[in-house]
Amino acid sequence: MVDRAPLPVLLDVDTGIDDALALLYAHLSPEIDLVGVTTCFGNGDLSVTTRNTLSVLELVGSDAPVYAGAATPLSDWTGAPAEAFHGQNGLGGAVIPDPTRGPEKEAAAQYLVRMVNARPGELTLVAVARLTNVAVALSLDPALLGKLRGLYVMGGAAFVPGNVTAAAEANIWGDPEAAYKVFHAGGDITMVGLDVTHQALFTDDDLAGVEPHWPYAGLLRDALEFYLAAYNPKRPQGTRTAPLHDPLAVMLAETPDLARGERYAVSVERAGVLTRGATVVDARPYSPEVKNVQVALELDIPRFRRRFLTRLGWRTA
Ligand code: BDR
Ligand code: CA
Repeated sequence: MVDRAPLPVLLDVDTGIDDALALLYAHLSPEIDLVGVTTCFGNGDLSVTTRNTLSVLELVGSDAPVYAGAATPLSDWTGAPAEAFHGQNGLGGAVIPDPTRGPEKEAAAQYLVRMVNARPGELTLVAVARLTNVAVALSLDPALLGKLRGLYVMGGAAFVPGNVTAAAEANIWGDPEAAYKVFHAGGDITMVGLDVTHQALFTDDDLAGVEPHWPYAGLLRDALEFYLAAYNPKRPQGTRTAPLHDPLAVMLAETPDLARGERYAVSVERAGVLTRGATVVDARPYSPEVKNVQVALELDIPRFRRRFLTRLGWRTA
């Protein structure tokens, strides 16, 4: 039962296995109105992530408009591909039909600026890819973030190791210049980083509960089998877990009290040889820096699991 109007959400993705789950979750949640989707390079080339986004939306019957954005990061530095975790086609080899529509004509950054200015204070932006599109939008409208209801960023690692390097999480590492711009552009920013997404785990038991009649059952089965194998190279089948990074960011936008967090001054390392792309969180008790970011830290795991699984169709206890 929804007792308030659905939250209008803009979702920026690089689809990607967990991005696909975030799209499914956003579409299937009555608490969310998926207003529009923008795409970025990341888990594959822009053409791959845009195709996957359109295909996943069509599979689930969503006609949310899709706007293609950045094909490269702001700097000329390029990161390694994400194939190990998302496969060559970005969906772990899962085969789903090609979309019957293409992306809209307008570019992602222009779309973000137009929509946010048309509905000031109303829209929540959930960014679960490199922050390139948001940074480009900020170059068009530097006050953009202040006109959002909130910005939820899946990215960074506050007090835990990185995933793509010892210090950096993939979305920040993939375009540190963009992340720096976004984190210092004002607005109400929540960082949904590895501290909290590594508590949001999908398991082998969950995989076994996929029901064949779901229209997206094949996608879930194949993509999540690949994802579990990628995250657990040494763990036997039956005991594997893998983090649901991107769906958690969407869920926290809609239900912020699912995780406890703290406000910190957060910046992004752009120069370090070993630490490029690290989120640097100033946890000094008497830090003079402005606390610009709310950092999600501790997840209510049972509530998260119940909500995620039931929205997608699982029968939960
Ligand atoms: C993030 O990186 C991407 O590979 C995932 O889709 C997620 O957004 C996790 O570090
Ligand atoms: Ca992603």
